[in-house]
Amino acid sequence: MQNGVFISFEGSEGSGKSTQIDRLASFLDQQGHSVIVTREPGGTEIGEEIRHLLKHSASGKEMCPETELLLFAASRAQLVRQVVEPALKEGKVILCDRFLDSTTVYQGVARKLSKDPVTMINNFAVGNLMPHLTIVLDVPAEVGLNRIRHRVTDLPDRMEKENIKFYELVRDGYLMLAKSIPDRFVVLDGTASVEAVEQQIRDALDKRLA
Ligand code: TMP
Repeated sequence: MQNGVFISFEGSEGSGKSTQIDRLASFLDQQGHSVIVTREPGGTEIGEEIRHLLKHSASGKEMCPETELLLFAASRAQLVRQVVEPALKEGKVILCDRFLDSTTVYQGVARKLSKDPVTMINNFAVGNLMPHLTIVLDVPAEVGLNRIRHRVTDLPDRMEKENIKFYELVRDGYLMLAKSIPDRFVVLDGTASVEAVEQQIRDALDKRLA
């Protein structure tokens, strides 16, 4: 029996997900909810090691798209069983920075892996567990890339070194996916002010999860 709420955040690099997740977590916390913030890839010890391999490890340079797909799925399988399912059973609110839709879009649409294996592997990794609500922060590819390139900390990781065409495919992929599953997705304009986006997220929660 699951009583908690599972919300995933999606969008390309530089869309402002982390900022908005932090703000929403504080807001929900003040309202008395028990909130867990987690991320993909990562969120567990195993997942964080996989994250390192996917993003920062020198050995990642040789990685083929099929391996990439399976590593993202492996991190997700662990997160679902170790963190998300138990938290849902305890009635918590889980805010997850990316979930299976990232795989559909990055590995399926942008890396152009065939749809059927991507769907099958996604389903195997999550079991029956799907977010109750998925918020996409939509920004044009060049806006997102500019934001990450002007970051003071962190050099670009393996994924962030992709070209603008890749990120245009990512953006289109999210918009198409959201259109095909309107009951679960809300798309918000990530170029609006931080405060405006924050308010729109709260409104979406009120409306969709009342
Ligand atoms: P981020 O946590 O800083 O957004 O980095 C995660 C990177 O991994 C980002 O480039 C998106 C990418 N990604 C995929 O390609 N597929 C996935 O399934 C997930 C979860 C992330």
